[in-house]
Amino acid sequence: MRDLVIVSNRVSVPQAGRQQAGGLAVAINNALASHGGIWFGWNGEVSDARESARCTQRGNVTYATLPLQQREHDEYYLGFSNEVLWPIFHLNLGAMNFHRRFAETYYATNERFASEITPLLKGNELIWVHDYHLIPLGNALRRRDVDTPIGFFLHIPFPSAELLRCIPGHKRLLMQFLDYDLLGFQTPRDQESFRDAATRILGATVKGNVLFHGDRRVRLGTYPVGVDVDTLQQESQHSETKRTLMNLRASLGHCALIAGADRLDYSKGLSMRLGAIQELLEHYPEYRRKVLYTQVASPSRCAINEYDELRQKLETQAGHINGLYSDLGWAPVHYINKTYPRAVLMGLFRAARVGLVTPVRDGMNLVCKEFVAAQDPQDPGVLVLSEFAGAAQELDGALLVNPYDPHTITQALHQALQMPQEERRQRHASMLKNLTHNSLTQWWQRFVEDLRYTLPHALSTLPPARRSIING
Ligand code: G6P
Repeated sequence: MRDLVIVSNRVSVPQAGRQQAGGLAVAINNALASHGGIWFGWNGEVSDARESARCTQRGNVTYATLPLQQREHDEYYLGFSNEVLWPIFHLNLGAMNFHRRFAETYYATNERFASEITPLLKGNELIWVHDYHLIPLGNALRRRDVDTPIGFFLHIPFPSAELLRCIPGHKRLLMQFLDYDLLGFQTPRDQESFRDAATRILGATVKGNVLFHGDRRVRLGTYPVGVDVDTLQQESQHSETKRTLMNLRASLGHCALIAGADRLDYSKGLSMRLGAIQELLEHYPEYRRKVLYTQVASPSRCAINEYDELRQKLETQAGHINGLYSDLGWAPVHYINKTYPRAVLMGLFRAARVGLVTPVRDGMNLVCKEFVAAQDPQDPGVLVLSEFAGAAQELDGALLVNPYDPHTITQALHQALQMPQEERRQRHASMLKNLTHNSLTQWWQRFVEDLRYTLPHALSTLPPARRSIING
């Protein structure tokens, strides 16, 4: 079996006795443990000096991590990745803040990553690159004569060609995708948007799931990220989950809990969500003193203005609603600006009558899947979900809403709060079935399997007979 090399901006090194942050990190560690290999990326620190990668060995997996230099942090990570690519890929042109130096440092940092990775390779690995920070890495590795299969998975949505064109240098950026053997997307819609951009902007052609440009060929595929329901259900037996659930139930009294937990990001539609809660309390006074909305908003990318402004806006909005509707012994909004371990969030979700997940755009969104997995199947809560989350196509039992319309969210909240138990059970069972069918383990296994069987990235490296089959 070939070793696996995973490259992502952040790396999650397992620490003894500590639960890992996200299910995705656990999945990547499982993929690595079953193949052996390397996980390469940023260690989360910023350093004045230019430091090389340091390796930590855990079983058959090497974690090779390095700090970013200040400039790389500001211009590659915050700048180009999160002030140019993130807003454009999430349909938020107004939040784009482009500077040429951001683009230069973005490409330079990808070059540095490639230079650090190349000496670690034995030459027969499968290389799997993750997410928008590292789009040019495949090209940078190819120029260093790496000729093993390299795949790329985009965790976030892919934008329309029109939006992509707003990024200065978008052609160069789009070209970088063509050095991979396999490109994975969360949903068929993202795959189509990519295909559309590559054909319209670059003049690429497509046959089936293979895209051709010059002598390059790239296979395209859809790999929706899932959750491991069994693992999550085992985790919900965790003492911290049980303690959270017990404390919440005791403090809720007769109030129904509406819960949300997101990174504090403009793509999550948090302000419109608060608007919907305000409308619920205004138009349905019977819910006053009867519901409680707990929103966990984990601090994220705080150095970027947009994020700081959003934090202030949400604090003001939550305070305003509480000022309008609170009563002695009851406040409707419990807004928490803090990061919790997953075990605590699982307790929050299980205690909730409604899970409120309304991003304006999201590649997949795992929170809504975790909410479903956390429920008691006999008495489950209802999921109110944005139609613009990638997960919406799998979660057929959710009440789907347009997140830009607080009124629709309010109506869905009312429907959820009134929903009879039998209907809640049916909706939940159907979603749980879909989640079990598309697990996180299947996600990485399918991608790695497809990568293993991709053909060389350039047609010119194929024997002529093979080339003519592909060319049709
Ligand atoms: C999104 C991205 C990930 C990223 C995560 C946290 O889910 O797709 O690549 O790691 O946000 O963002 P951060 O900027 O804190 O790494």
